Amino acid sequence: MKFRFWPRSLATRTALVLLLGLAIVQMAGLTIHALDRLDVQRLGQARDIAIRVVGIYRTVALTDPERRAAVVADLHRGPDLQSSLSASPPQVDLPAMPVPEQRLLRINMNMVPLGAPQVRWRELVIYGGHGWHKAIIGMRLPDGEWVNVTAELQPLRPWHSPTFLGAFVLMTVAAAVLTLWAVRRLIAPVRALAEAAEALGRDVNAAPLPEAGPTEVAVAAVAFNTMAGRIRRFVQDRTELLTAIGHDLRTPITRLKLRAEFVDDDELRVKILADLEELEAMVSATLAFGRDARTTEPVSPLDLAELLRTILDETGDANPDMLDKLRYDGPAHMTVRARSLALKRVLVNLVTNAVNYGGSALVRLSSDGERMVVVDIEDDGPGIPPGDLDRVFEPFYRGEPSRNRETGGVGLGLPIARNIMRAHGGDVTIANRPSGGVKATVTLPV
Ligand SMILES: Nc1ncnc2c1ncn2[C@@H]1O[C@H](COP(=O)(O)OP(=O)(O)O)[C@@H](O)[C@H]1O
Ligand SMILES: [Mg+2]
Repeated sequence: MKFRFWPRSLATRTALVLLLGLAIVQMAGLTIHALDRLDVQRLGQARDIAIRVVGIYRTVALTDPERRAAVVADLHRGPDLQSSLSASPPQVDLPAMPVPEQRLLRINMNMVPLGAPQVRWRELVIYGGHGWHKAIIGMRLPDGEWVNVTAELQPLRPWHSPTFLGAFVLMTVAAAVLTLWAVRRLIAPVRALAEAAEALGRDVNAAPLPEAGPTEVAVAAVAFNTMAGRIRRFVQDRTELLTAIGHDLRTPITRLKLRAEFVDDDELRVKILADLEELEAMVSATLAFGRDARTTEPVSPLDLAELLRTILDETGDANPDMLDKLRYDGPAHMTVRARSLALKRVLVNLVTNAVNYGGSALVRLSSDGERMVVVDIEDDGPGIPPGDLDRVFEPFYRGEPSRNRETGGVGLGLPIARNIMRAHGGDVTIANRPSGGVKATVTLPV
């Protein structure tokens, strides 16, 4: 469905549909009520007029013909009735009263007990004004003369009842409030589920959903928690496998190092030892990675701007010749929620990469709207060959120049960084800048 004003939120949609339904029901109820009241009022009016008209007819019929004019002039049956005499039926330019209403008047007149002495309707003509504002009733007296009554009809007022109006407003407001409340309650679990999924995306060890509430909600919560548990176990199994392998590789490496000492060829021994050194560094990094993944550092608020400046200061201390090539650009403070040690490891690795492979580091902190915080780390180095851009996130991948320059890494920095940021619900990307050099982008949800 593509309505222009169709709201996006499920709660608003449901509330809108329910309120619309409520409005239709109320409208139908009001119409029924109004029609009913119109009927009752019309009937009452007809009965009232009939009784008074019959009274006039009787009085006139019982009076001697020569005194009738005086009696009719004197007759007073309320301000809205006027009577007169005529020799022939009343000539009026009003249309005949609608048949159903005419019948109502006639039946009512016939029902009124006339009492003694009996008078009978000889003839009756009834005219009604447009929309029942005025009625003219002509009655033939027994001797042929006509007595005519003009009745002003009060307009019908189907709404004229203050209690009804108050009750109606109260009922509508109560129903609307209840609807809104119920919809909010109904939708709350959906929101809770979305939040839990979001939290799980950031942290596999996030707290489980409460499994209480209505059946459907509880079932969904149980299913969600089971899924979260399986994901957790899967991740744990993988990291345990990794650390187990790393662990078991250590002993043979140490043994090999001891044996290498017995190689007579000096050049060969140095090469073998260097390779074993590298292998050992890789294993240590792997073990550190496994340890990181297992430690459940809590997510807590921290000042990212402060952290970035500290990292740049520390890098500057380690590379005094680079001091003027390390720059921070961004707000003085920005609070984010993250695991501070892990986040620091990510940023340190990216800044170190920029310094080691790019020879400078410009760190830019900004926030993309309300949802993401973005840290860009740029350098002016040679960049990464376009074909290798996808591979830099592969474990143990190292570009050709890095091997030659003895920068000390083992190629786990970027995969670990990406792992950590994805566990935070963010990401790390690497791209070549059009003007040369590399731009690493870290995103972190607020
Ligand atoms: N800023 C950069 N400029 C050029 N090459 C880079 C940059 N950052 C990373 N690289 C390349 O990506 C590889 C992988 O980086 P990383 O995972 O941090 O491992 P390490 O730093 O241990 O080599 C590096 O060896 C390097 O070749
Ligand atoms: Mg690195």
